[in-house]
Amino acid sequence: MALLIRNGNIITATENYIADIYCESETITRIGRDLDAPPGATVVDATGKYVFPGFIDPHVHIYLPFMGTLAKDDYISASKAALVGGTTTLMEMVCQAGSGQPLADGFEFWMKQAAGKSACDFTFHQGVTRYDKQVEGELREIVNAGVSSFKIFLAYKGAFGINDDELFNTLTLAKNLGVITTAHCENAELVARMQQQLIAAGKTGPEFHYTSRPPRVEAEGVSHLMAFAELTGAHTYLVHTSCQEALQEALAAKQRGINVWVETLIQYLLLDKTYAELPNFEAAKYIMSPPLREKSNQDVMWNALRQGFVSTLATDHAPFDFVGQKEMGRGDFTKIPNGIPSLEDRVNLYYTHGVAAGRMDLNTFVATASTNTAKIFGMFPRKGTIALGADADLVVYDPSYRGTISARTHQLNLDYSAFEGWEIKGRPNVVTVRGEVAARDGQFVGTIGRGQFVKREANH
Ligand code: URP
Ligand code: ZN
Ligand code: ZN
Repeated sequence: MALLIRNGNIITATENYIADIYCESETITRIGRDLDAPPGATVVDATGKYVFPGFIDPHVHIYLPFMGTLAKDDYISASKAALVGGTTTLMEMVCQAGSGQPLADGFEFWMKQAAGKSACDFTFHQGVTRYDKQVEGELREIVNAGVSSFKIFLAYKGAFGINDDELFNTLTLAKNLGVITTAHCENAELVARMQQQLIAAGKTGPEFHYTSRPPRVEAEGVSHLMAFAELTGAHTYLVHTSCQEALQEALAAKQRGINVWVETLIQYLLLDKTYAELPNFEAAKYIMSPPLREKSNQDVMWNALRQGFVSTLATDHAPFDFVGQKEMGRGDFTKIPNGIPSLEDRVNLYYTHGVAAGRMDLNTFVATASTNTAKIFGMFPRKGTIALGADADLVVYDPSYRGTISARTHQLNLDYSAFEGWEIKGRPNVVTVRGEVAARDGQFVGTIGRGQFVKREANH
């Protein structure tokens, strides 16, 4: 299998130059001008286009039993959507709720969901939803098997959430093993009390979801985690950071010398809380946790991405249909399955509203949507860059493309898009996974099941 991409404008997190890229046996083997291809090689003319490293989404949910239902995508629909949108590696959470089920079973189960189905590469964060000696042993084995990050929830009391004792033990083990712990930071007790008060007062509509989880609830979650990180020395990563208050707690911790990395989501950059107040229960499409915030937070997050205070841009793709799933919360907002799916559109929306709108330079765009994730989670330089020896995960990107987003044309298995009708300026022309063309001009042309599990070494 040989692939030659000719004359593209190659963009990495640090460079910008015109060259050809030659790939053999799944790997980039030559970069230069006027390269030759052997007969039979796939040749792509990238003149006038960018060539980016494959984008990585550090936070998706595909198999997700959650809030009394099951997320709609599987690895076939999700990986097709990812690839069409330029994402070549997915990081999903193995996060079974806190029953007595061995962790190793959960890991194997999630692996079975992906292996043989995913068309793009994938890896996992291991969810820790309880802690005892048996769990500790299983976590050690899972880390040895190549999963070098944990996922914990300070939210979702009674489901995924862990208590402070479990938090301390998890971070202590993470520190000992050199793995990073990713965390959903919202104070679960505060959320539960606010929800009870609101429902008791008859405030049951989706617009009260925000009221039950104001910015201070998230900021308290961050501050709480940072105290535990400080005392254990563990390295942590804040998923879906939505607002200035939470970011400030993270930056204060960084100033104290705590090793913490921050993720935000495309939804928080582009959607604000007024979407979650739309009439006729339309708001339910926009319910996620932490909730969409006041618009003023959007500039804060764009600035933080530009300045490096926020390292990564993810989706937290959590796909639930409007009909039959989001509708479960009619009459009680606490029962609306949380999540705003956006896996297919993350890169195009980020390019459109970041690079094309003049808000972000190309290198920062690549860094935050690919390279930084690869570095933080132990995949660099195999993933996240264009270099000799790296996997040939490449996105030939056409900045002149104009189109609109619609659930009707999505690869995702969903009945709505939160971005229905939004214009995009730019789209992947060709997307490759380890040297094989997997998407062309909005169509999936790859191979179901070709995606590989990416083993990661502990690097913290
Ligand atoms: O609303 C969200 N974020 N749904 C997915 C589950 C999670 O908290 O990541
Ligand atoms: Zn979360
Ligand atoms: Zn999530």
